[in-house]
Amino acid sequence: MPSIELRTVIPGPKSDALMHRRVAAVPRGPAHATPVFAAKAEGAVVEDVDGNKFIDFAGGIGCVNVGHRSPRILSAVQTQLEKFIHTCFSVAPYESYVELAEKLNALVPGHFPKKTLLVNTGAEAVENAIKIARNYTKRPAIVCFEDAFHGRTMLGMSLTSKTNPYKAGFAPFASDIYRVPFAYCYRCSYSLEYPSCKVFCAAHIEDTFKRVVAADSIAAIIVEPILGEGGFVTPPPEFLPMLQAICRRHGILLIADEVQTGIGRTGAMFACEKFGIEPDILITAKSLGAGLPIGSVTGRAEIMDAPGRGALGGTFTGNPLACAAGLAVIEELRNGRLMERAVELGDRFERRSRQWQKRWAIVGDSRGMGAMRAIELVRSRETREPAKEETEKVVQYCYEHGLLTISAGSYGNVLRILVPLVITGDQFDEGLGVIEAALASVCGSREPAGMHTA
Ligand SMILES: Cc1ncc(COP(=O)(O)O)c(C=O)c1O
Repeated sequence: MPSIELRTVIPGPKSDALMHRRVAAVPRGPAHATPVFAAKAEGAVVEDVDGNKFIDFAGGIGCVNVGHRSPRILSAVQTQLEKFIHTCFSVAPYESYVELAEKLNALVPGHFPKKTLLVNTGAEAVENAIKIARNYTKRPAIVCFEDAFHGRTMLGMSLTSKTNPYKAGFAPFASDIYRVPFAYCYRCSYSLEYPSCKVFCAAHIEDTFKRVVAADSIAAIIVEPILGEGGFVTPPPEFLPMLQAICRRHGILLIADEVQTGIGRTGAMFACEKFGIEPDILITAKSLGAGLPIGSVTGRAEIMDAPGRGALGGTFTGNPLACAAGLAVIEELRNGRLMERAVELGDRFERRSRQWQKRWAIVGDSRGMGAMRAIELVRSRETREPAKEETEKVVQYCYEHGLLTISAGSYGNVLRILVPLVITGDQFDEGLGVIEAALASVCGSREPAGMHTA
């Protein structure tokens, strides 16, 4: 039985009416990938206020790796609700915060003692990681990457690459931030080819220390192991180990921003495990709370202890409901089945998208790791001109036909999937079928003959 059920044209009348109220009451700043208002969500299906059912390939931007309303999470949060909702960890601390810190200390890669600070969001995790790194190293500068995304707060935005809509009009930005090219092989900043390039982009950072900012003034290099909002750009295997070696050579801390790659998405608890690196600080958020707001900063104990008493914290940081959810998420992932599922889903997407690539020139690149997968759409295979409008049309076709998807990329031409890992095989294939039909519609051809589900 198909999971997609459409009772109205999309958006339906109730969503439409709510959108009118939304336009009048809420600033235009927060944009929407789809015009449908949610009423319920379960597993990998979202139902809107008009009774339409959508398969969810967006997962609230990668926040529900364990699925919507996973029974284990519901029960943990309900149990906590019966006890207390908030005392503030800085006033009357509670065990669940400490327990979640202990669990993350054990799970985050690194054969050294660790400590964890809990916060509310990814951006807040970024802010705190940078504060801690500066405090520990007594150095001011931070190196980050082109096409990176680290949030919308002042420091997060300053570290973020994409100008529009994230940065335009919001200057001045935080100082002492230096940006270098990421290993975006499909659009190499140095016009080189992997592997003959010998991962020049990583090696060239040594040159940046001579010509742009001295290594001994750099507190940290912050990197997403796979670019998230930047378009699921997956670096070659050598890139992150090379970065780690450079950091170690110069006493620079390596901060891995695993807000989007973390919590099972890539087929490991953390993408750093896949690349064989042990960052000094690793941050998470998104799927750690299965939809409840929580973020974490885990790092070497001596680094995390650098800021003094009262120097870190916040009213809601490590909220008890979010801690209960975080502990249940870790329990849910403990047996490794969802991570295996991430790999299976990724392989399925990979196989299907390679067929699309053969069929339609618009599918320029297919990439990712585990269930963090994307296709990059281009107007021409030769020029690789980004196909932004076409990508928007694909997203629109998808939601009009019962699939929630989102785009990404500095050029807005990447279609990414952040599907809940609990999705069934049938639901996943149904969703891939909608993307396929969307591509056929945008490319002006019939649904390709002879294509079968993986
Ligand atoms: C890699 C990365 N870092 C930081 C953030 C910011 O997280 P939040 O939106 O929870 O502040 C995001 C959000 O998409 C992200 O993908």
